[in-house]
Amino acid sequence: MKPGNRFLARAWTAVMFISATGLAVGVPVHLVQGGPPSGRLLDIAVTVILLADVFVRLGESRSLTAAGWRWLLVDVVAGIPFGILFGPTPLELLRLVKLARVVSMMALWWQRNTPRWNTFRLLYSGYWIALVVHWLACGWLALRAIPAESLPGQNTYLRALYWCVTTLTSVGYGDITPQTEVETIYAIIVMTIGVGMFGYVIGNIAHILANLHPSRTRYVETMERLNAFMEYRDLPSSLQDRVRGYYGYRWEKRLGFDESAIVADLPPSLLADVSLYLKKDVIEKVPFFKGAGEELVREIALAMRPVIYMPGDYIFRSGEKGQEMFFIGRGQVEVLAKDGRTVQATLHDGQFFGEIALVLGHPRTASVRAVGFCDLYALDKETFDRIVARNPEFAAHIDAMVRERFGPTS
Ligand code: CMP
Repeated sequence: MKPGNRFLARAWTAVMFISATGLAVGVPVHLVQGGPPSGRLLDIAVTVILLADVFVRLGESRSLTAAGWRWLLVDVVAGIPFGILFGPTPLELLRLVKLARVVSMMALWWQRNTPRWNTFRLLYSGYWIALVVHWLACGWLALRAIPAESLPGQNTYLRALYWCVTTLTSVGYGDITPQTEVETIYAIIVMTIGVGMFGYVIGNIAHILANLHPSRTRYVETMERLNAFMEYRDLPSSLQDRVRGYYGYRWEKRLGFDESAIVADLPPSLLADVSLYLKKDVIEKVPFFKGAGEELVREIALAMRPVIYMPGDYIFRSGEKGQEMFFIGRGQVEVLAKDGRTVQATLHDGQFFGEIALVLGHPRTASVRAVGFCDLYALDKETFDRIVARNPEFAAHIDAMVRERFGPTS
C-alpha cells in the first residue's frame, strides 16, 4: 500500500472508530432522554459516515467472502438511522453492533504485534470501562431512579453517573438509594458487575504496567538473579562489579539484547538483511569496506560475530595461536609489545587487528588489550581464508596492512 493510501486508510479507520463510539454513547442517551435537536444533527452525520463506510468496503473487495458478508450486514444495520426514522426505539440498540469493528480492529493490532501494545491495551481497557459505566448510568436513568424534579437545577445524567461509579467502585455512599424492587435488583447487578470489572481491571492494569518496559523488566530480573547467584557463590566483589559492569554496558548499548541469539531464529533471507543492518556501524566505519564490492561486504559482515570486551581485558596475548581477526565497532584497544608494557599502537573504531597470525600462520606478534568497553566483531580463520582466496582485493588490502605492521613478508 502506498504511504498516501495508508494514511487515508488509517484516517478512515479513525473516523469509523469515532463514529462507532459516538453511537455507543449517543444511542443509550437518546433512548432515555430523547436527546436535544443538536443530537439529531450528530445522528445524521454519523449515519452518513457509516453508510459511506458500507460503500468504501464494497469498493475495497469486489468478491465478498462469508465473513465479508457478515461484516457488511453489521455495517448496514449500524448505518440505519432508527432514531431519526422512528424516534427513541430499542431498535436503535442494534446499531451498537458497529462496536464489533472496534473489537476486530484491536484483534488485528494484536496479531500484528503493534509496538506499544501494552499502552494500547491500557487505553482500550479504559475505553470499555468508560462505555460500560456510561451504559449502566443510562440504565439507572431509564429506571427513572432520579426524577428530574427531585433534583432541581442538577444534571440528572451526572447524578446517575455519580451513583454508578460509587456503586461500581464500592457499595455507594447511600445518598442515592434504590427505591423500588426493580431498582434494587439493578443496584445488585451493578454491584456484582463492579466486583468482577474492577477485579479484572486491576489484575489487567498490574500486568500491563509490569510489562510496559519489557526489556527493563527482563534486565532487572537478570540482575537480581545474577546478584543472588554471585552472593551465593561468594564471588569476590571486584569480580561481581565486572559482571555487573558487563550487563550494564550491554543494557546501555543494546537494551540487554543478545543480537546473535535473536537473529539466529530468523530464516536465512531475513537473517542476512537484519544482521547486515545490525553491523552497519562497523561496515560504515571500516575504510576498506567503503570501496569493496557489495557481495564481499555482505559475506564478511555475515560471518562477523559480535563480542564485547571490558576495560583492561586482553583480547589475546602475544605468542598465542591466532584463530580470529577482529574489527572494532566501537571502543579502543592497545597493541602491547612482547614486554607487555610498551604500547606499540592504539587502534579505534573502524580499524582491525589480529590479521598477521592468520595470514602468516605465526603466533600472535603482540598482545591486544581493551582500553574501555569495546564492541568488536570477530572473523574466524576458516571464513577469513575462504574470503581471501576468493577476493583478491581483500587479500591485497590485508597484505598491505601486514607489510605495514610486520614488515615485508617475503
Ligand atoms: P597478530 O600478530 O595476529 O596479533 C597482534 C596484532 O596486533 C597483529 O596481528 C596486528 O594486527 C596488530 N599489530 C601488531 N603490530 C602493530 C602495529 N605496529 N600497529 C598496529 N597494529 C599492530
